[in-house]
Amino acid sequence: CEVVALVPAAGQGVRLGAGLPKALVPVAGEPLLTHAVRRLLDAGVREVIVAAPPDGVEPIAEAARAAAVDAPVRVVPGGADRTESVRLALDAVHGRFDVVLVHDAARAFTPVETIRAVISAVAAGAPVAIPVLPVADTVKVVDADGMVIATSDRSSLRLVQTPQGFTLDVLRQAHAQAAGVATDDSALVERLGIGVHTVEGHPHAMKVTTPFDLAIAEAVFG
Ligand code: C5P
Repeated sequence: CEVVALVPAAGQGVRLGAGLPKALVPVAGEPLLTHAVRRLLDAGVREVIVAAPPDGVEPIAEAARAAAVDAPVRVVPGGADRTESVRLALDAVHGRFDVVLVHDAARAFTPVETIRAVISAVAAGAPVAIPVLPVADTVKVVDADGMVIATSDRSSLRLVQTPQGFTLDVLRQAHAQAAGVATDDSALVERLGIGVHTVEGHPHAMKVTTPFDLAIAEAVFG
């Protein structure tokens, strides 16, 4: 099964406040992106295409290539938002692949088993597969004044992680018809009316967003 992975890493990491792009922030002495790319390659991914901040392609390329000698990694300039960054990376895919993964550099510690589970689901016929976790907290919908409008039924809610897996055709179709920005790629596929499968996610696939997340990552993986 031939797999290509797209890694949107063009964010500036403003919420992390480290003063450098989030993908370059070190944990256990290595940039988040290096950890992420290494796990993708360990899971059997044949090629990795990273979307970098347009004004900082070279350090991103260096961090990605640090994951493996002669790593099959290409870096393209990213876009103004995550959706555009993924589309630009997708435009750089050439050749035939059975599965395309989209994986946030910020989820650098996603276990190889979780990556393999997503690949297997698509290889077995799912047009889209995403890793999910149950929600531990109660979730409420609030209005602009912070007043509660509704309480969601927690048992049917899931937290969504990456990598998300697609057939190349489905991801291309989703991005060709994408209107506006989505916080994940499977949402674009939902808009096409295509069923999105779920597989079991993992707590280690946490997204490093805030200084608190970074402290947890360093404590667990450092
Ligand atoms: O902002 P957020 O943490 O949701 O971003 C998720 C991923 O999308 C990050 O890995 C970030 O680098 C990437 N991103 C991107 N291009 C942008 C903005 C974010 O590739 N313009």
